[in-house]
Amino acid sequence: MTFHKLTVALQSRSYPIYIGSGLIKTGSAVELMPILRGPNGVVVTNETIAPLYLEQVQKWLHDAGYKNRAIILPDGEEFKNHETLLNLYQEMFKAGLQRNAFVCALGGGVIGDLSGYAAATYMRGVDLIQIPTTILAQVDSAIGGKNGVNMEGGKNLVGTTCQPRVVISDVDFLTTLPEREILSGLGEVLKYGLLAGDDFISFLEMNKNEILARDSKSLATMIHFCSRIKADYVVRDEYDRLGVRAALNLGHTVGHALEKLYDYKEFTHGEAVAVGAVAALNLACEIKLLNDAGRQRALQLFADFGLPMRIPEAVDVDNLIEIMHRDKKAEGSLSMVLLHGLGDPHLEKSIDLPLLKDVLQGCKQ
Ligand code: NAD
Ligand code: GLY
Repeated sequence: MTFHKLTVALQSRSYPIYIGSGLIKTGSAVELMPILRGPNGVVVTNETIAPLYLEQVQKWLHDAGYKNRAIILPDGEEFKNHETLLNLYQEMFKAGLQRNAFVCALGGGVIGDLSGYAAATYMRGVDLIQIPTTILAQVDSAIGGKNGVNMEGGKNLVGTTCQPRVVISDVDFLTTLPEREILSGLGEVLKYGLLAGDDFISFLEMNKNEILARDSKSLATMIHFCSRIKADYVVRDEYDRLGVRAALNLGHTVGHALEKLYDYKEFTHGEAVAVGAVAALNLACEIKLLNDAGRQRALQLFADFGLPMRIPEAVDVDNLIEIMHRDKKAEGSLSMVLLHGLGDPHLEKSIDLPLLKDVLQGCKQ
């Protein structure tokens, strides 16, 4: 078995991330799984993923001596709420889980966030295993410990930061991912390219065709790059309080507002982040933080991967800015992550609103 391994180094909360093909196969759990507090747990997944991978994962855990039952949730962001969470607690209780139990999240970011929150709070916290099955979850949501549920007032309004014991990113799971979910994950991947700079951007430029064809070696290298970048930000600012981890929100200020404006029905998260990243590139260029060559190289990458780059003509830009203000990340004045060069992100605290309005208007062409 060949795989990439890296460690999220957080003292007593440190954990490994394994990335590769064929990771979830007979016998490998003995090598990849940490020693958990107890032998009993649950695998939490959804109705779409269960028929594809549940049996394989349950057997894999059994082989390593970890007894487990399955909890299958409905599929969809609309179920990432307190009602589903309460059902999850009840199923965990019915399965007889004690304080030394484990929760294994098998799915995308929705399952990861729900399972992570349940694991962090059930009997004041049990072990969490993340087995992410989307690109977005492998490069982002499964790493770093953020979890939570949505409420009427907005997304992820309630949650904790609680690190998993291990993350296992098997790229074989990505073979069944719908095309649009691949694209959504790639929106976040390209964001990492902008954060990291030349090395990763060059890799993406040179391996575009292989990545889009889902070549497992290229996917594993790409996910390894992203996981390393994410882990580095998490280690420097685990609780997102120092303004360091905030750089991961590049493209998200405009992206979140766009998702919300369309009631989460028009853009996937990664698509909205792509449009938001383009807006941030244009703004950084306008205020001469980023040169035009850097901007053009970045825009080419988004175009090459087929990501959306424009704000729809029908969008009222004043309305979009109003939503950005209401976003929980906009504390006081409007802040945005802007690049001072490819690979050089900074959190800019007081964005010039008339200029932002012009830039957003320009993103419609
Ligand atoms: P998702 O979990 O909804 O998965 C997308 C769709 O793909 C679902 O229908 C799912 O059933 C299906 N699917 C998943 N894996 C599959 C596979 N291998 N084969 C076939 N179908 C598969 O969406 P997502 O994009 O993975 O995650 C989005 C969620 O992640 C949002 O709720 C967001 O708030 C959260 N998120 C959390 C963090 C964090 O740090 N915790 C970071 C980013 C996003
Ligand atoms: N997805 C942003 C973060 O984990 O901080």
